[in-house]
Amino acid sequence: MEFYTLENKNGLKLKLTNFGGIVSEIHVPDRDGKFADIALGFDSIEEYQDHNDAYFGAIIGRFGNRIGGCGFSVDGAEVSGLFDNDEGNHLHGGKVGFDKVAWTAERISGEGYTGVKLSYRSVDGEEGYPGNLDATVVYKLTDANEWVIEYEAVSDKATVYNPTNHSYFNLAGHDGASPLSHEVQLNAKLFTACDAGGIPTGEVLSVAGTDMDFRAAKTIGSAVDSADPVVSSRGGFDHNFVIDKKPGELGLAAVAYDAASGRELKVYTTEPGVQFYSGNFLDGSLTGKGGHVYEKRSGFCLETQHFPDSPNHGHFPMTTLRPGEVFCSKTVHVFGVR
Ligand code: BGC
Repeated sequence: MEFYTLENKNGLKLKLTNFGGIVSEIHVPDRDGKFADIALGFDSIEEYQDHNDAYFGAIIGRFGNRIGGCGFSVDGAEVSGLFDNDEGNHLHGGKVGFDKVAWTAERISGEGYTGVKLSYRSVDGEEGYPGNLDATVVYKLTDANEWVIEYEAVSDKATVYNPTNHSYFNLAGHDGASPLSHEVQLNAKLFTACDAGGIPTGEVLSVAGTDMDFRAAKTIGSAVDSADPVVSSRGGFDHNFVIDKKPGELGLAAVAYDAASGRELKVYTTEPGVQFYSGNFLDGSLTGKGGHVYEKRSGFCLETQHFPDSPNHGHFPMTTLRPGEVFCSKTVHVFGVR
């Protein structure tokens, strides 16, 4: 297991490891050119192997977020008994998901970027999922200050696939002031309603007139303690927002901005959803880089993906991957300043 560091012509740096495809550091400048590492994480690969319960920086697979009741059917084949790691439900790919496996890494480069291509074969039946799945994830750092993620996969049996990256951001620096003061804007007028366990009910509801409305930028802190049961039942924001764009098109999902530093993060994706998670389950039990203790809500995630539990909701965009098809997905993080 190794670390790989990418650096662009402007001095931005992204460090990753082939263990879990984890992005462990992202160094970006503030409006005065001062760099900070805005990704929560650990210093060593051993710590990631030992206790990355929060999925800091990791690739999530085979299925990002939850599968209700630990089962589903795909093209008539029943899949049951997926690992229950979330009170009767299956979260983030199971016991040994893509965040905990060794990927094969290859450095790549091209016009205006350097990167790493990660490859992993998940064998038929691994974590209960059908099909040998050959997955690649390419991370690129471009000279336009973008971190690009390109996911591809093929399977030899009908299966489901819904990868994401689980980076936690704090634009003030991973050890900086609370990101609750960050402004967040989500390009979403709808979200998928869920039960208290985070499993979609199947309803797709409007954000209008509720604290779920991030169409205009507002601080996370202004609404995270909302009395609205939609928010409070999840301990804050931990919801799938339906991105306003055409299916498959690379479109804007989210903007986060830290007025104090001027750092801005824009997230574009081809995926239909983004799980906005305000780090509600961080609780000070994880000590990260440089001995910094990650308290509740000290980082937030913008996980671009298909909707949670899609295999059990026929009206959600489909996550089925069949033999002969190539799964392709792209997410672009743009780092800027105001
Ligand atoms: C989920 C949260 C979960 C977190 C860390 C997020 O994607 O939606 O409910 O606690 O990941 O596992």
